[in-house]
Amino acid sequence: MATQSLTITDNRTGKTYEIPISEGTIKATDLRQMKASEDDFGLMTYDPAFMNTASCRSAITFIDGDKGILEYRGYPIEQLAEKSTYLETAYLLLNGELPSKKELETWEYDITHHTIVNENFRKLLEGFRFNAHPMGRLVSSMAALGTFYPEAKEIFDPAVRKKQIIRIIAKVITIAGFHYRHTIGMPYAYPDNDLSYPGNFLNMMFKMTETKYKPNPALERALDVLFILHADHEQNCSTNAMRAVGSSQVDPYSAVAAAAAALYGPLHGGANEAVIHMLNEIGSVKNVPDFIKKVKAGEGVRLMGFGHRVYKNYDPRAKIIKQVADEVFEVTGRNPLLDIALELEKIALSDDYFVKRKLYPNVDFYSGLIYQAMRIPMEMFTVLFAIPRVSGWLAQWQEMLLDPDQKIARPRQIFTGPERRDYPRG
Ligand code: CMC
Repeated sequence: MATQSLTITDNRTGKTYEIPISEGTIKATDLRQMKASEDDFGLMTYDPAFMNTASCRSAITFIDGDKGILEYRGYPIEQLAEKSTYLETAYLLLNGELPSKKELETWEYDITHHTIVNENFRKLLEGFRFNAHPMGRLVSSMAALGTFYPEAKEIFDPAVRKKQIIRIIAKVITIAGFHYRHTIGMPYAYPDNDLSYPGNFLNMMFKMTETKYKPNPALERALDVLFILHADHEQNCSTNAMRAVGSSQVDPYSAVAAAAAALYGPLHGGANEAVIHMLNEIGSVKNVPDFIKKVKAGEGVRLMGFGHRVYKNYDPRAKIIKQVADEVFEVTGRNPLLDIALELEKIALSDDYFVKRKLYPNVDFYSGLIYQAMRIPMEMFTVLFAIPRVSGWLAQWQEMLLDPDQKIARPRQIFTGPERRDYPRG
């Protein structure tokens, strides 16, 4: 059998080292023993953007980017999207196993019965300008929410931790709904305990004067599937933020706020909104070839909703979302931007530029079209991504806290500034 190690000769000194290989990786700290001189700090690796660095060991989500595979705790995303619900999937992510019938009932009950936010919270919401971006509101609201629960700092107490996880998952839909109602000047719609998680969110967004809001079952299920698809995605930018900030042992509300801020960016969760802007700008199917030319010319124009750091194949979530889109359009009518999106996809998938770079539609390419058809305003699209992702962030945060290998995240740097010099004046 081949030896599970790496033999390295440091040509600066002529010394040879044997470094163990475990799980396909070497430990970066094993390189530190390689020193050019006695007072040398030791060899480091340089890896901006973590292109080839595993920052943790994780048992939550598995992705094979070349094959287009995504699994939560071993279950294929396609099966979860077809058979599970978002709340059951969130339980799976957090606990490692699917709940029993009884456990699921308790979990759903607990989430449903924590959706109300403290009335004082309304004052905070009202402090925002009417046109404040919903993601800016969400980021600040998640941090502010933590101030209502000082015990949240007890992160190593399992019962306290569980309570905050329930609160965050439950209240994120109420906060998102309340912000929307504030933006459009409508009275807040309070949670309704008779409704499912996605149904309750639709209730808090769209309830008018009816005494009881009845979500359309097809839209309610479509939203639930979208929530399942967005629940976790291993070590992406926002999850990395959650783990890094959480590693300082701050309360989970503050860490979720940091993760949500990372998600806001257009290269991450902001892409679903950017896709609709792009489709509007293209305007018509006949303009698609010209747009593709601009993208290929590298004039700083990207095909939003295409490409992924990990997937070098069709994003499995995008495939499911395409089916969901058809089901939603049956109810809402076809989104006129769909034809432009389909044409873009057709051209891109057969064009050498995209084929060579392995650029395929990602999760954000079609999700915005669905949200738009459901009358969700464009600026809220990233909030729709954040709502389910809180369960993934919290699962990853909890795993990080309990991992004996983890410490406060603190990368090294290669210093490129001036050498020590004396202050010139006085
Ligand atoms: N349109 C045109 N060219 C692209 C695109 C795109 N969407 N994405 C990558 N490329 C090109 C890029 O110009 C580069 O070409 P070259 O080798 O000639 O310089 C090559 O493909 C590799 O790109 P990269 O920027 O080095 O790849 P990355 O892994 O750093 O970036 C990405 C991944 C998702 C940021 C990028 O593909 C992108 O900007 N896509 C558009 C934004 C988007 O849809 N984001 C959502 C990602 S999925 C959900 C989420 O994470 O939130």
